Amino acid sequence: MIIQRIPTGIPKFDKLIEGGFPDNSMILLVGYPGAGKTTFSAQFLYNGATRHSARGVYVCFAETKETFLRNMMRFGWDFERLEKEGRVAILDLSVTREAGLQKNLDTIMETMTSLNASRLVIDSFSAISMGLKELIDIRVMIHLLYRFLKKANCVSILILDQPWGTSALGEGISEFLADGIIHLETYFDENEVFRRRLRILKMRGTNHTKSPHEYDITSEGFVILNKKVSRSERRRAER
Ligand SMILES: Nc1ncnc2c1ncn2[C@@H]1O[C@H](COP(=O)(O)OP(=O)(O)O)[C@@H](O)[C@H]1O
Ligand SMILES: [Mg+2]
Repeated sequence: MIIQRIPTGIPKFDKLIEGGFPDNSMILLVGYPGAGKTTFSAQFLYNGATRHSARGVYVCFAETKETFLRNMMRFGWDFERLEKEGRVAILDLSVTREAGLQKNLDTIMETMTSLNASRLVIDSFSAISMGLKELIDIRVMIHLLYRFLKKANCVSILILDQPWGTSALGEGISEFLADGIIHLETYFDENEVFRRRLRILKMRGTNHTKSPHEYDITSEGFVILNKKVSRSERRRAER
């Protein structure tokens, strides 16, 4: 069976994963604050809506819708217009986080169905699980979310906020369930210059890149740079 590919349209990124995310997959996007998780995910929805007639839903659990709209306008992405045209929906659940996960998932599902959306971003998983102290609660939540996503029939990006200085990617469960894991890393090079590189840690059914790739966030959004990170550079950065 041929796996259908869902392109992100992010310059040079799709080439790293055989043309795009596998159809119906759940992708974890992990990284430190400021790594570019929101930018990457918003670009995935924006390109989907403007180039591939793919409608999308962006769920803000962490920042407010207003902040999201304003920041995305800096890249020239007018989500307000797309929303008016019925091509995307931005759900601000930052205030109703306490309403309970099931209720919030119902709201997301209703929006996805009424829009006939095929792309979904949840920003962020960490914000939803805040307040859940017991691992068992987190487990229940992940399974609820996973079942929901499989039913939603879409490609979803689940953002995981990685706290500064930590190397663990998730809580140990979502990584196994995910169809793909992208790690966005920020670091300082030997000249103390702030740099970014990404790694694809997992992408089911895909012969994905095995190298780290430098990327940047420019006025156009997320772009993969030409340069692969050399081994000596990597060693220096890891020292
Ligand atoms: N208009 C812009 N031009 C260039 N870089 C930008 C612009 N807007 C944001 N950035 C960069 O992107 C970073 C924020 O990216 P974001 O996607 O919000 O990260 P995350 O969601 O991972 O916290 C900022 O810290 C800044 O370095
Ligand atoms: Mg963010």
